[in-house]
Amino acid sequence: MMFGFGAMIQKLKENPKKIVLTEGEDPRILEAASRLLASSFLTPILLGDEKVVADAAEEAGFNIRGAHIINPLTYENKEEVIKEFYEIRKEKGMTMEKAAKLMEQRNYFGTMLVKMGIADCLLGGATYSTADTVRPALQIIKTKPRNSIVSSCFILVRPSATGENEVLAMADCAINIQPSEDELVEICGETINCARIFGIDPKVAFLSYSSLGSGKGDSVDKMRNAAAKAKEEFPDVPIDGELQFDAAVSPRVARQKAPDSKVAGYANTFIFPDINAGNLGYKIAQRMGNFEAYGPILLGLNAQVNDLSRGCNALEVYSMAIITAALT
Ligand SMILES: CC(C)(COP(=O)(O)OP(=O)(O)OC[C@H]1O[C@@H](n2cnc3c(N)ncnc32)[C@H](O)[C@@H]1OP(=O)(O)O)[C@@H](O)C(=O)NCCC(=O)NCCS
Repeated sequence: MMFGFGAMIQKLKENPKKIVLTEGEDPRILEAASRLLASSFLTPILLGDEKVVADAAEEAGFNIRGAHIINPLTYENKEEVIKEFYEIRKEKGMTMEKAAKLMEQRNYFGTMLVKMGIADCLLGGATYSTADTVRPALQIIKTKPRNSIVSSCFILVRPSATGENEVLAMADCAINIQPSEDELVEICGETINCARIFGIDPKVAFLSYSSLGSGKGDSVDKMRNAAAKAKEEFPDVPIDGELQFDAAVSPRVARQKAPDSKVAGYANTFIFPDINAGNLGYKIAQRMGNFEAYGPILLGLNAQVNDLSRGCNALEVYSMAIITAALT
């Protein structure tokens, strides 16, 4: 289990939470739910038809006794949920009829359970796409007042035989397709906070195909300007850019390409220029660099909602459930 988990579990033991798991009858969700139920710090609320979920658990051999199962189609306070959702979205053209239809979808219904305080947080996406998990959160939970966007980061952990795990943060690999300079600065600030929660002492590199002016292009300028703004905004954190990945992580390359940088060679928190770079970057680290990837962890929402990869396994669901609740 990854670095920082003990502290997260301890925090939840002191203040237990309820988490909505949208795909109630998925065997990976059921396995994770049975593990959570065996401890007492996080209660799963499984969405789905009670009988279908119970039968799926029995068939897969997981004990989910004690789990709350809620069927959005027959939920006793369904009308209240529909009405509240309608109120939140009426200025955006929502009608009661459309609201009732959307509340039949577990991603929307589950997000409303968080909004109404029936659950503390939500984890979905074992079968839904990222966009379908995130969109209800953007529309219902919404961006924190001091933030202008919701973004995301991944925490990457490479276990080592000596016990000194390598822990990195990467952003934004999942939400903002083409972030602007100012959005990158905001993503940097949120990622610094998240990295610290996972025990990282952040040294931030704004990544590019250029190191401190070696290459030219609009996206190079964007990363250089964003790094300069971030340095001003977060003066207590070592930040540099634009940097190529080799200059960011290899002390030998850094001596050649960025000899005066305090970050180059030792970066552990990476801000990517766009979602293509970020998504490919974290997956290369995961698939070819033996890093475990936790995320995307959504940053800047009023309540914690997180998205699973559709290729996730039960251990990843369990870990992400704990992360989601602990960040709540
Ligand atoms: C996040 C994402 C789903 C939003 O797309 P969308 O639903 O089509 O966005 P829309 O422009 O229709 O906006 C829907 C709402 O979300 C809000 N929104 C969109 N992006 C947002 C962001 N980054 N932060 C905060 N709010 C955002 C909009 O303001 C809008 O709110 P409103 O309806 O209250 O006015 C989209 O940016 C996306 O698809 N990102 C990539 C996801 C992905 O495929 N990741 C790779 C796999 S991990």
